[in-house]
Amino acid sequence: MAWEGLRLLMHPVALVLLVPGSWGLAVTPEELREVVGGTLLVQCWSSPQEGPYMQKTWCRQRSPGRCTRLVTTSQPLTAVENAQHTIWDHPKAGFFIVTMTQLREEDLGVYLCGSFNSSQNLINTFRNITLVVSPASVSSVGTITWLPTMTGRCGVSARGRKRDDQAT
Ligand SMILES: *[C@@H]1O[C@H](CO)[C@@H](O)[C@H](O)[C@H]1NC(C)=O
Ligand SMILES: *[C@@H]1O[C@H](CO)[C@@H](O)[C@H](O)[C@H]1NC(C)=O
Repeated sequence: MAWEGLRLLMHPVALVLLVPGSWGLAVTPEELREVVGGTLLVQCWSSPQEGPYMQKTWCRQRSPGRCTRLVTTSQPLTAVENAQHTIWDHPKAGFFIVTMTQLREEDLGVYLCGSFNSSQNLINTFRNITLVVSPASVSSVGTITWLPTMTGRCGVSARGRKRDDQAT
């Protein structure tokens, strides 16, 4: 089987090999734009899964066929969090969610979400996202993944003051 050959290239730690697409198909690369300091929110779809849990991961691809895992689930419905990333998986519903916070310009790069088979050290890619992070002064229009990191900057407190909390 092809895996046996790939095994020879296996890397320890978080570097894993990639297999293309969910069912062996190549995934269409996407580009998402965010601003410095912003948060990337990505939803990834798998088919609804019953049976043994398959881990999900978010990784950064710096070279062909290799991806460095940034955050990986360990069980369903349990968020895993580190300094810049969170991941949360709902396998029965067939999706998982990744966030990447406090974006910096140097986070520009290619990221993949997918399932992770730890015994083979292989990632099956679901989405391939090129992240572009631009300075905050440049407005980012047209991304549905943009989440404001701060509320209360845009006159929320002024509106709050107007509200009549002691109405009878
Ligand atoms: C993801 O897309 C990038 C840029 O289009 C490409 O270089 C890379 O090989 C793709 N990775 C995978 C696993 O499809
Ligand atoms: C990982 O791959 C092995 C070998 O193909 C397979 O037996 C196992 O079921 C896979 N693990 C998961 C969680 O799918």
